[in-house]
Amino acid sequence: MYQLIDGKKISGEIKDELREKAAQMKARGVERCLAVIQVGSDPASGVYVRNKKKACEYIGIRSLSYELPEETGQEQLLDLIRELNQRSDVNGILVQLPLPGHIDEEKILLAIAPEKDVDGFHPVNVGNLSIGRPGYVSCTPAGVIQLLKRSGIKIEGRECVVLGRSNIVGKPMAMLLLRENGTVTVCHSRTRNLKDITRRADILVAAVGKPKFVNGDFVKEGAVVIDVGIHRDGEGKLCGDVDFDSVAPKVSAITPVPGGVGPMTIAMLMANCVEGADGTQ
Ligand code: GUN
Repeated sequence: MYQLIDGKKISGEIKDELREKAAQMKARGVERCLAVIQVGSDPASGVYVRNKKKACEYIGIRSLSYELPEETGQEQLLDLIRELNQRSDVNGILVQLPLPGHIDEEKILLAIAPEKDVDGFHPVNVGNLSIGRPGYVSCTPAGVIQLLKRSGIKIEGRECVVLGRSNIVGKPMAMLLLRENGTVTVCHSRTRNLKDITRRADILVAAVGKPKFVNGDFVKEGAVVIDVGIHRDGEGKLCGDVDFDSVAPKVSAITPVPGGVGPMTIAMLMANCVEGADGTQ
């Protein structure tokens, strides 16, 4: 029988710890404030932004909300970021992605002051992670590490395979597993003999962005499988990158979708906001 890794429960525990910490900080006169910027009205982004604001409220972080119209110009957005960079009462800035096509995403992310980049997307923070210096870490992969640690799953010395090489998940995931002394392999769309590699994994992290891509043939008996994907299947039901029914009977532990990695992303964003760039979560 496999262990079902309960991201909802673990994220709840983290948020409660942060709430306590934020209250103690407030008692010392330190208040955190997150500025959340959304451009346009993409419905999925709208849900994420609402959930982020709700989490701030729960934990006791002040949030500023900027809901800008789709036609907002790049310079206008840059001006807002520059203003927020300067404000001493704002310690976190988050620009919800994706941005409308006429805005250069990279330019925007580069404009956010690294010390306020609670998403961990700025090259300074990415670089710090890669050379083992303190800095903000991308929330989803940071959440995966917390899921593993808080479920009693050892990373050190184990074969870790990351499926996917995105800047937001795959690459920082590999860096974090390496920081935890895992032996790390990154696979992607050009990888040959993919299943031969994924079947070596003690810990397999699926972040390919394809619904139910990973089936039982990809995993060895007793592996730990973490599913970062979130999609809707043909019947409109939520599913991940992993075909749960096919994989679960083979594994020692697995995350569900929904209720696995998803809730951890916001919990880690809150951790970044409360604890700052050198947080010890
Ligand atoms: N869009 C999807 N995921 C994320 C995220 O983690 N941060 C931001 N800013 N936008 C996203």
